[in-house]
Amino acid sequence: MAASGIAGAGLTLLNRFSSAASSSSSSSTRCRTRSVTMAVSTDQKPKTNEKLTLRKSEEAFAAAKELMPGGVNSPVRAFKSVGGQPIIIDSAKGSRMWDIDGNEYIDYVGSWGPAIIGHADDQVLAALAETMKKGTSFGAPCLLENKLAEMVIAAVPSIEMVRFVNSGTEACMGALRLARAFTGKEKIIKFEGCYHGHADPFLVKAGSGVATLGLPDSPGVPKAATYGTLTAPYNDFAAVEKIFEDNKGEIAVVFLEPVVGNAGFITPKPDFLSSLRKITKENNSLLVFDEVMTGFRLSYGGAQEYFGITPDITTLGKIIGGGLPVGAYGGRRDIMETVAPAGPMYQAGTLSGNPLAMTAGIQTLKRIKEAGTYEYLDNITGELVQGIVEAGKKAGHAICGGHINGMFGFFFTQGPVYNFTDAKKSDTAKFAKFFWGMLAEGVYLAPSQFEAGFTSLAHTSDDIKKTIAAAERVFREI
Ligand SMILES: Cc1ncc(COP(=O)(O)O)c(C=O)c1O
Repeated sequence: MAASGIAGAGLTLLNRFSSAASSSSSSSTRCRTRSVTMAVSTDQKPKTNEKLTLRKSEEAFAAAKELMPGGVNSPVRAFKSVGGQPIIIDSAKGSRMWDIDGNEYIDYVGSWGPAIIGHADDQVLAALAETMKKGTSFGAPCLLENKLAEMVIAAVPSIEMVRFVNSGTEACMGALRLARAFTGKEKIIKFEGCYHGHADPFLVKAGSGVATLGLPDSPGVPKAATYGTLTAPYNDFAAVEKIFEDNKGEIAVVFLEPVVGNAGFITPKPDFLSSLRKITKENNSLLVFDEVMTGFRLSYGGAQEYFGITPDITTLGKIIGGGLPVGAYGGRRDIMETVAPAGPMYQAGTLSGNPLAMTAGIQTLKRIKEAGTYEYLDNITGELVQGIVEAGKKAGHAICGGHINGMFGFFFTQGPVYNFTDAKKSDTAKFAKFFWGMLAEGVYLAPSQFEAGFTSLAHTSDDIKKTIAAAERVFREI
């Protein structure tokens, strides 16, 4: 869009709001924050934003769109649900990220979860440099795999044996095939708004980018791939009972995020997880906790340790790779011995267990195993969420939020939010305005109402205070 005489950054922000928030009935006129004018009507001239210049990001993204679908390699990065375009990151350290225009942000995305000790940790980088001297991939066993496997098995209550893969998607694919192979049954129960990676059988009422883009399913997924996928609302045990009743003897597995992070942050009702544990046992079905996000984040032993419920199989990713590509699935020994070459269920990977990913994972786990990790995350994250929610309410917005240790979220709705239907009552246009207001204040939040946020050991009390102060300013203006 051309607009002569309007400074670049201001125009950028105008365009963002034009696409994301202009449908908001609550704001027909522009609203100003200290740092940026957020115009929601195209006939208003925006003011120049002195703090946030995004010219280089704009150029780079224009080039990226010619090279990669939508300009990105993972959909949610494209900022579709908040409008506008992504900022292009140059570097990250500790709790901070810098874009290629030189803007600095306090980061609450943490690479979508892995960065629990902060970005580019010195110890992790030093260990990686040492490992790299010996080679980056062998396609053959190495000692580092034993080391990380020992650490994971010692930490996660359900895991007696583990298989490393390269992503959370692969971990969930493997876990599902394993559950079907072990039980000899095919049907699965998953929950609306839960995301288990992009493998065909899971792309039914999935969360994360699928929710963000409002895609009910994905073209290209054959009916045959999802015929056995049955869905229930999260936190609705009666719906799960009914599915078991209607599909007697056919359910291989109940597969879920024990705390949802891909429909926003949603916690389980008190008896939900224990009821799932009970019904799966009674029906000779398996219970899989997808802890790709919650593993080592809610506690060192993950959500299963935090809630005291042990599933049969667990999937992991993110933190156990310390920022390098990793996933894993593990569980009871008798179940895991179904996996090839110990057993007949095939699953393999050229780069699985590669020394770099194992090294970053080992160093990261060593650090978070130290005393005080989760108390610290609880303190700063609690302060953050309480500060944001209180500031929002004070400014007259409907908002609710919560956290468990280093994982958090808030919704622009009164709440309570127990499932994806509740989450979708959120005012997403208002979220978009809040997101851009915070970005202009130097705070990088997940660019979607339907994603969880993450803190790290590198976030300081000062970071939290600055973030809350920024939120107070932005809430007053949106
Ligand atoms: C709970 C959960 N499972 C699976 C995945 C897929 O992991 P990946 O993106 O590494 O393939 C994600 C990704 O965010 C996730 O949050």
